Amino acid sequence: MTIVFVGNSCVGIEKTACYHHQESSTLSVMSAFAKKIITWQKREGRHDLPWQNTRDPYRIWLSEVMLQQTQVAAVVPYYERFLGRFPDIASLAAASLDDVMPFWAGLGYYARARNLHRGAQQIMADHNGIFPKDFDAIHALSGIGRSTAAAISAFAFGERRAILDGNVKRVFARHFCVEGDVKSKSVEDQLWLLAEVNLPRTEIESYTQGLMDLGATLCKRSQPSCLLCPVHKSCIALEQGRVEMLPAKGNVREMPHRQTRMLVIISSGEVLLERRPPTGIWGGLWSLPELPVEADIFKTLHSRYGLTGRTTREMVRVEHGFTHFSLSIFPVEITPTKILLRAMEPGLIWLNLDDALNAAIPAPVKRILKSLNSSTHI
Ligand code: ADE
Repeated sequence: MTIVFVGNSCVGIEKTACYHHQESSTLSVMSAFAKKIITWQKREGRHDLPWQNTRDPYRIWLSEVMLQQTQVAAVVPYYERFLGRFPDIASLAAASLDDVMPFWAGLGYYARARNLHRGAQQIMADHNGIFPKDFDAIHALSGIGRSTAAAISAFAFGERRAILDGNVKRVFARHFCVEGDVKSKSVEDQLWLLAEVNLPRTEIESYTQGLMDLGATLCKRSQPSCLLCPVHKSCIALEQGRVEMLPAKGNVREMPHRQTRMLVIISSGEVLLERRPPTGIWGGLWSLPELPVEADIFKTLHSRYGLTGRTTREMVRVEHGFTHFSLSIFPVEITPTKILLRAMEPGLIWLNLDDALNAAIPAPVKRILKSLNSSTHI
């Protein structure tokens, strides 16, 4: 594989020849690509996000984890609430996971919160409570991948490290016209190589933020704003009319679809919640009791929850998308006529609606509970 330069700019990689890593003078000159990204970021990029203008690695770590798979606008209120309750590593490490999850509820990808909590405990145990500076030590923390470790290293410590999140992959795949399934190992390797060779020697923070800003605001998946892009003149995909085709997806399999029934059991103004298993979908969150749509509701109600009852209302179906499947939820509101087991096993809890809405519940469960007309039932 050969890295191809035009002037000082790396414009692509040729796959036919072998690429030998070199710390040569060619690579040490800042690429025109990096220069343009930096200049544009300073003029047009984002500068007032709540996790900017700080070098506190904890705040930066939290933001980078929250921003994985999640857009800035959704993250901002969660970020501020989380920091209000857990202002530093020690407070997060000292909390129980039960204390942490309500502050993540609704943001999705809950393994992120569990990893963050575990990471804080690792820092207390292995690094005397001080966020490590060493890239490998950052990378070794729970839930921190190569790109996230690089972003933290760059923003908190000014280290020259390459990032490659989903948005940045799109920028590189287009600008350097990298063909092939973006999920394949060989394309991923090519993209990492491009990310590495284009790294500037200085102003790593502006460059890193610039790549993120470009991917999020101009080089969007659909309808990108190419004419406003600071590197559009050297964008090979633009020149070849291939912007919308890149990055290429391999065989796109149809998303599997699942269905589930949720029981909204309400008694004396309280709703019954059940804790999800610690791992898997919505791991560790509180949710509504669930059963297959074809299962007998009243049998389950009796055998699993010691309740007898009658269905009062089929509620509106709720659709929810996960990364690998979509889910249709069929909620049914139930008023129990008899409660045999009021003292519940661990993993079950009766909460009034306000407390339930503030508990660590997934977003679609919150939607179902919010849709209840409390005055008629409670
Ligand atoms: N996405 C990932 N990291 C980000 C950051 N620091 N700012 C904005 N968007 C991001």
